[in-house]
Amino acid sequence: MGNNLLKGKKGIIFGALNKDSIAWKTALQAHEDGAEFVLTNAPIAMRMGEINELAKMCNAEVIPADATSIEDLTNLFEKSMEILGGKLDFVLHSIGMSPNVRKGREYGDLNYDWFLKTLDISGLSFHKVLQTAEKTEAMNEWGSILALTYIAAQRTFPDYGDMAQAKAVLESIARSYGARFAKINKVRVNTISQSPTMTTAGSGVGGFDVFLDYAHKLSPLGNASAEDCAKYIVMMFSDYTRMVTMQNLMHDGGFSSSGITDEIIGELTK
Ligand code: NAI
Repeated sequence: MGNNLLKGKKGIIFGALNKDSIAWKTALQAHEDGAEFVLTNAPIAMRMGEINELAKMCNAEVIPADATSIEDLTNLFEKSMEILGGKLDFVLHSIGMSPNVRKGREYGDLNYDWFLKTLDISGLSFHKVLQTAEKTEAMNEWGSILALTYIAAQRTFPDYGDMAQAKAVLESIARSYGARFAKINKVRVNTISQSPTMTTAGSGVGGFDVFLDYAHKLSPLGNASAEDCAKYIVMMFSDYTRMVTMQNLMHDGGFSSSGITDEIIGELTK
């Protein structure tokens, strides 16, 4: 059950690939909470057509857009305003991909063309989304724009590879553009740093099961689920968080503040 937290609000949700996607859960939660939105993903990600299932459930239209293409993004923002009948209140950037991670390249043997792709898709695309939103004058006052990130931007995790740099760029963009958008029309820009979650992007990281289990044991509340993340996102899109901007918000069951836990001690003393 929703709480109508987003009643009357309009937006765009990037990145719902399949039912495991954090963006998929967010779309369902935002719909329950009364929002109207357009769904989007890279044209190639729509081959399986699963997004149409979600669109039906949420009464939403789908507009394909490669988040690295300014042309696609401009079309997306302009068409979304037409479809929704006005400016936007929220945007979710839920996008990540590294060819190096996907193809299992060691950190000491990276392909630099792929590294640039990682940065473009997973980092710079957030700037492109923000800049396009500004240039198309798409955002209402007090709007909220969010991107999803991971704590590997601050601490090293084996196998996260060049995604760590992309996430650091992403978080930095949220701060710089947050300062700018606040002055333009009070739009807030934040990143949410989510627990490891079993999704297509997540399971592309080597040894993900162990990683998930370790994070769960080191988090006093356990790993945050995709459903919990969706609820947090909806709250960040709501009017209850109007003064929160330029932040990297931890949504991780306490992982980032935890030194060691009894569960980890138990594992090590087995
Ligand atoms: P997912 O694989 O379901 O979503 C990633 C999405 O990025 C897919 O829908 C994919 O089509 C889209 N994408 C890739 N290239 C694109 C492009 N050029 N243009 C537009 N879209 C593109 O996986 P998940 O986990 O839901 O990922 C969403 C976000 O959450 C990502 O930013 C990810 O890094 C982040 N995150 C995920 C965690 C996890 O453990 N799964 C943990 C912390 C953050």
